[in-house]
Amino acid sequence: VKRITTHILQEMKNRGEKIAMLTAYDFSMAAIVDNAGTDIILVGDSASNVMAGHETTLPITLDQMIYHAASVVRAAKRALVIVDLPFGSYQGNSKEALASAIRIMKEAGAHGVKLEGGVEIAESVTRILAAGIPVMGHLGLTPQSIYKFGTYTVRAKEEAEAAKLKEDALKLQELGCFAIVLEKIPAKLATEVSKSISIPTIGIGAGQHCDGQVLVIHDMLGINKGFKPRFLRQYANLFDVMNDAITNYVDDVKSKSFPNEKEEY
Ligand code: KIV
Ligand code: NA
Repeated sequence: VKRITTHILQEMKNRGEKIAMLTAYDFSMAAIVDNAGTDIILVGDSASNVMAGHETTLPITLDQMIYHAASVVRAAKRALVIVDLPFGSYQGNSKEALASAIRIMKEAGAHGVKLEGGVEIAESVTRILAAGIPVMGHLGLTPQSIYKFGTYTVRAKEEAEAAKLKEDALKLQELGCFAIVLEKIPAKLATEVSKSISIPTIGIGAGQHCDGQVLVIHDMLGINKGFKPRFLRQYANLFDVMNDAITNYVDDVKSKSFPNEKEEY
């Protein structure tokens, strides 16, 4: 199979073919996500929530992201694997940002990195790109800034924040980012941004006119039973499927029906 590249993603936008992106954090899940034809696998810092059980994405470390990313890279035969730079690994200065990105590329074998923010991180984006590392932007609801926002509700509903987001998108494109994630912003604004820049936009809670879509794999598979925001479409109810299987196993062990004679040596 031919590996998806940033150039292929640009061609997809040019011809109006939508880009499908999902998260994964481990080898077995990534193998399924890759096999199903997902174009980009994001090793998101949402691992902090869905893998480690933290309330926010802030606690996950660069070492932990590299562990997740290396596992995903070993499974991905076709998908482009992009890895989030975690909170604290790039905001200090652009040299620190580059050092973090290099560790992700070398130690995990990833194909690119994603950073949250616009003009504020321009120097870091420039330095990482200068090293030949593809960079994906992330605007709108940027969860590493949750304590600044105070809530996980829709961003850029007001004109000032919308205007800044549009400027940030143009800036990220000008710097050389290959795509931009737009998280939880009005569909109308996401449509405008998607039309105003030539690189692909990947939306999550940003409407149907983005050039691609992304969801957290645990959310779309219904593993996170409680989590059902408006933007999320659940494609399975794996919590119940897995719960039934595990309940049956426990019952079988307790009732001594597992293992049977065919299952012993
Ligand atoms: O960490 C993550 O999963 C993300 C996506 C939701 C875009 O950044
Ligand atoms: Na993220």
